[in-house]
Amino acid sequence: MSNPIYLALDLPRLDAAVALAQKVKGHVGGLKLGLEFFCAHGHHGVHEVAKVGLPIFLDLKLHDIPNTVAGAMQSIHVLEPAIVTVHASGGRAMMEDAKAAAAEHCKVVAVTVLTSLDDGDLNGMGVGGSAHDQALRLADLAQEAGLDGIVCSGHEVAAIHQRWKKGYFVVPGLRPADGKLGDQKRAVTPRAARDAGASILVIGRPISRADDPVAAARAIEATL
Ligand code: C5P
Repeated sequence: MSNPIYLALDLPRLDAAVALAQKVKGHVGGLKLGLEFFCAHGHHGVHEVAKVGLPIFLDLKLHDIPNTVAGAMQSIHVLEPAIVTVHASGGRAMMEDAKAAAAEHCKVVAVTVLTSLDDGDLNGMGVGGSAHDQALRLADLAQEAGLDGIVCSGHEVAAIHQRWKKGYFVVPGLRPADGKLGDQKRAVTPRAARDAGASILVIGRPISRADDPVAAARAIEATL
């Protein structure tokens, strides 16, 4: 079994991000680069991080008209990402076109409802019902659109796995049993997420902010 841990490289400086990735590369299975990193360092930054030799997850959360998202997907072929995110709320046609435009071995996964939004926020946008129900609805839509999977919390992954047996589930918001929560309010442990059906585990600060990132990554790896 390959290592399911993807390290979230949420560091503003490119040299620091590359140095951290080099340090822990023996104990993680891939590297996640987000919008902040991509806007700051672009293709050059991704190429530099890719030299570390691990699969790259581009968490770009694309959301636009189908033609534009398809064009964006084509523009990142050259970066050879293993995983790219789009927003499920962009709709079925957008997701279909994103998948069609992705490179053959690139997994396209959908963000359902951002964890920063609650029921009240959704109602304010005209979406009735709960955030949980909306997340399940959008997960079904992503499946119908032919995407590879979705991003979801460790609390939802078991329920969504029931509805989508072959889905690829990306789970962030994880904390080791003795870890600091930071701004994550509903964290689960990496092991619990794995047991519930997570395909990959996105972990940032418990490794990147640890006094000894290698020891932290090894300790998490040992629990899996
Ligand atoms: O540092 P931490 O482990 O909390 O990092 C989690 C990573 O996962 C960050 O890059 C964050 O943007 C991302 N993420 C998240 N919750 C979501 C979606 C993405 O924490 N619902």
